[in-house]
Amino acid sequence: MRAVPHPIPYQGSKRLLAPLILEHFPTQVDTLYEPFVGSAAISLAAAGRSLAATFRIGDSLAPLVDIWKRILTDPETLAADYACLWGAQQADPRAFYGEVRDAYNADGGAARLLYLLARCVKNAVRFSNAGAFNQSPDNRRLGRTPARMRRALLAAHELLRGRAQAVPGDYADAIHDATPDDLVYMDPPYQGTSGGGDSRYHRSFDRPRFVRDLGTLLDRGVPFLISLDGRTGAKTYGPALPAELGLTRVELHAGRSSQATLSGRRTETYESLYMSPTLATEGMSLRRSIHEAAPRLSGSRRRRRDMLPDV
Ligand SMILES: C[S@@+](CC[C@H](N)C(=O)[O-])C[C@H]1O[C@@H](n2cnc3c(N)ncnc32)[C@H](O)[C@@H]1O
Repeated sequence: MRAVPHPIPYQGSKRLLAPLILEHFPTQVDTLYEPFVGSAAISLAAAGRSLAATFRIGDSLAPLVDIWKRILTDPETLAADYACLWGAQQADPRAFYGEVRDAYNADGGAARLLYLLARCVKNAVRFSNAGAFNQSPDNRRLGRTPARMRRALLAAHELLRGRAQAVPGDYADAIHDATPDDLVYMDPPYQGTSGGGDSRYHRSFDRPRFVRDLGTLLDRGVPFLISLDGRTGAKTYGPALPAELGLTRVELHAGRSSQATLSGRRTETYESLYMSPTLATEGMSLRRSIHEAAPRLSGSRRRRRDMLPDV
């Protein structure tokens, strides 16, 4: 059994939640659209389980999409470029990180961004008001070794090659062609972490527009899943989506809050997953909600989940 590769270290990745999210997929998907792709955790996990025939992934952070384009077409040269950067940092890792960050801010570059993501604090992109990548290096480590990175890049290539397309730009453009035979999975920036002066994303997120676009998807009969708000204990983050949309919300257990654990408390974190009406009513989901008793998976679902462990 093969593990699901995860080549791009990315804060906010849905890698650990992917098995729970995949439980809510329809049994047949022509194209899986992931327009807020980040590290593509859901597309990779879905590809590993053959849950969609083709994939369209997109992100408004263009150099991130460049990483995906190179993974799809030529992962070896990306691995070699990453190895070059990783090796060149040895003499003075901190100063070298600064040089790569300057070069990235001046000219972009997929390998540079991959290196910065592997080396920066919490693998988290941060941007200045002017849009420059300004996250600091994590000086306790040098980032994923070239050998490990190459293995992950090649494995992701194997999973997606010939059946995935990567497009830079706004989510609305990326999902423009989606049909009722497809599935759109969306993991937009959380409200409250991306509006105003928040530096987690390179642009702010227009929530009212997003809600309107969900209405359009509903009118077009396109099935969709959205990861959005959540809570840690009783503390919620991000407002819920409007009830008028008629979506079904389940809570997925995302684990224990490390912040709370540090202060001696045991507080669990849950993330909301919203599903469009067709997904909810056609009985295509297992509803692994915390509100339900521990589910026993039925035959086909169990086989599907057992095929590939997520690591
Ligand atoms: C929460 S992250 C997605 C993480 C992803 N699910 C994963 O597993 O790694 C949100 C992503 O949306 C992108 N983004 C923000 N605004 C966007 C927009 N208007 N259109 C497309 N992508 C956008 C950000 O660059 C970021 O990569």
